[in-house]
Amino acid sequence: MEITFPSTFLWGTATAAHQVEGGNIYNDNWVMEHVPGSPYVESSGDACDHYHRYREDIALLAELGFTLYRFSLEWWRIEPEEGEFSLAELDHYRRMLATCHEHGITPMVTFHHFTSPRWLAASGGWEAAETPEKFARFCERSVAHLGDLLPLACTLNEVNIGPLIGAMRGTAMDTARTEAWFGLAARAVGSDASRFTPFLYANPQRGRTTILAAHRRAVDAIKAGPGNCAVGLTLAMQDIQAGPGGEEMAAHMRRELLDVYLEGTRGDDFIGVQTYSRQRFGPSGPLEPEEGVELTQMDYEFWPESLEATIRYASKATGLPVIVTENGIATDDDTRRIAYIERVLRGVAACMRDGIDVRGYTYWSALDNFEWSYGYRPTFGLIAVDRQTQKRTIKPSARWLGQVARAHGF
Ligand code: BGC
Repeated sequence: MEITFPSTFLWGTATAAHQVEGGNIYNDNWVMEHVPGSPYVESSGDACDHYHRYREDIALLAELGFTLYRFSLEWWRIEPEEGEFSLAELDHYRRMLATCHEHGITPMVTFHHFTSPRWLAASGGWEAAETPEKFARFCERSVAHLGDLLPLACTLNEVNIGPLIGAMRGTAMDTARTEAWFGLAARAVGSDASRFTPFLYANPQRGRTTILAAHRRAVDAIKAGPGNCAVGLTLAMQDIQAGPGGEEMAAHMRRELLDVYLEGTRGDDFIGVQTYSRQRFGPSGPLEPEEGVELTQMDYEFWPESLEATIRYASKATGLPVIVTENGIATDDDTRRIAYIERVLRGVAACMRDGIDVRGYTYWSALDNFEWSYGYRPTFGLIAVDRQTQKRTIKPSARWLGQVARAHGF
């Protein structure tokens, strides 16, 4: 074997609740999907019905060779109205955790992956001073019910996602507040456009303060137990590069989009790195993909080397162990997925050879699922899902990566 990994290295794949479970009116994202003029091209609908099919899905992942499954709790299912907690829903997630353990899979739970309860978004959401406390209360209640089955947790997924997308587009996400669809979504939950604040649409400064405070409060709540859970956050880390004359802008972006968040991980057990591609900046803003570089279905550059760069960056900035909590490619050509992962893993192995403590690699995503505003068109999955029948079809990349996991290398 040319590239080898330690036998303790975790081989994961991931989903997020909303993207595989779908939603309903208690969920802020569902509301945004259903107002006229919304940027969401379609409804999440039943998604992959993973809510009911998780047993088969987890069994399949174990059979393929995966040893870690990262999935998220839906806060709006567990606390559909403020202060009203559903033990039945907590039991559901308990069964998911137990199923992972039965199959020898380490579960990693994300407590917040973009979607929030309607009532939270309506009352100031991810800009409100009370939100960290509300999030910590949700974490505390969940851990009380699930903690003994929980070895690994991420508080919030991609704490910097709104500012990152804003920087990549050249327009901050909170400018959506002035658009008609946003006002309609706000009114649909009994709020108004100045208060309604879903995760993605928070103002970069106010959002950062709220989200990082929520992370800290959540770490304490989760670590208080029961159980003995390693806790971290995850960060969306495109490899930020300078195009011609863009050095200063790229440095500014690294500081604003990465460093300030990496500083917020002090005291955590690991840093969750999530990388898909690189993003270049010129002197006045983001640059288009470079001429001649292959594009993915997301119009990202096919740039597998970006993960190696971001692992090195995150490790140097934090000194924490790294878990790659997401990395993947949207493509309908599965041979390109294998080529991408293979090059990515060479980079991960190079980091480890240099002494960087990388504990695992998680491919996004286990299933073809609901890619937010893009709907179901981009296919990141190792497993295809028939939208009518929900039938799962294993792609060659799933078998290939499962085999790498079993052999500890390739
Ligand atoms: C998110 C996922 C998303 C993926 C691919 C990440 O930003 O955590 O929810 O599907 O990237 O775009």
